[in-house]
Amino acid sequence: MTRALPTAASMYDRVRRVIPAIEWPAFSDDIEAILALKRRRNAVILAHNYQTPEIFHCVADIVGDSLALARKAMTVEADVIVLAGVHFMAETAKLLNPDKTVLIPDLGAGCSLADSITAKDVRLMRERYPGVPVITYVNTSAAVKAESDICCTSGNALAVVKSLGAPRVIMLPDEYLARNIAAQTKVEIIAWRGRCEVHERFSAADIRELREAHPGVTVLAHPECPPEVVAEADFAGSTAAMSDYVRQRKPARVVLMTECSMSDNVAVKHPEIEFVRPCNLCPHMKRITLANIRSALDKNRHVVTIDPRVAERARWAVERMLFV
Ligand code: 13P
Ligand code: SF4
Repeated sequence: MTRALPTAASMYDRVRRVIPAIEWPAFSDDIEAILALKRRRNAVILAHNYQTPEIFHCVADIVGDSLALARKAMTVEADVIVLAGVHFMAETAKLLNPDKTVLIPDLGAGCSLADSITAKDVRLMRERYPGVPVITYVNTSAAVKAESDICCTSGNALAVVKSLGAPRVIMLPDEYLARNIAAQTKVEIIAWRGRCEVHERFSAADIRELREAHPGVTVLAHPECPPEVVAEADFAGSTAAMSDYVRQRKPARVVLMTECSMSDNVAVKHPEIEFVRPCNLCPHMKRITLANIRSALDKNRHVVTIDPRVAERARWAVERMLFV
């Protein structure tokens, strides 16, 4: 017997702390349609921690940071994967589970880091630093990953650097992530000049002002923030690490120096914690909506494809990091 699908009304409880009741009717029709389409198409939705709460808590099957989404994508058994996140995440899912149909609801959901470097740039770095291993952040195109020795995410970057046992590595393309990791190791790290357009906007002065305005606040920062921000924060880690910190340490008052939806998604589960909300929106993540997820499932778009010559080498670099 097929189980009845939950209704949108029954889901409102999950998000009532962050979505006003008056806004809910605008979401409920799409939510019910998406739940039915997922069943019809044997699809799962993987959502990044920066997706809005109605996506994250009401239609997603698997949620997490880039590393968790990559690991989970590899073991998906459903026919279709919808990636509620940005394009590089959808490409990573396709690399790791190539027989599945992978859909990205909006092809314009890019990333300033992925746009900061090309495959040719990586080849030039190799010429300039012969023999130095290249670690590439997953926030890059498959073509850039294909030129790399190994990938990393913000969740495993230090472990990946250590795993190579080299005195010197190239870490591309996020300059701030590279500098933040360099502060934790004796390995020399050669960086690129890419920046996350969301995290580069936070400053150390922001943190000092926050501490004055909200005494006792615990400050968590993403490692894509400038090093002086990370130095002023109480903790720095991937989006999953920030979420775990809140769950385990339960600070009375907290601010997450990262994308805005992250606080909403974590706040839903912690009514006892006060979330201070200066945050920055990622315009790329925000291109994903319930409406275009519905349309992706209904019209089978946009199908993610990767040139097989690129895919083989890029897959190797991504899979290698999963074994670190
Ligand atoms: P995480 O891997 O920490 O989720 O970060 C991904 C990202 O795009 C952060 O800006
Ligand atoms: Fe890229 Fe920054 Fe947006 Fe993450 S938050 S997808 S790194 S632009």
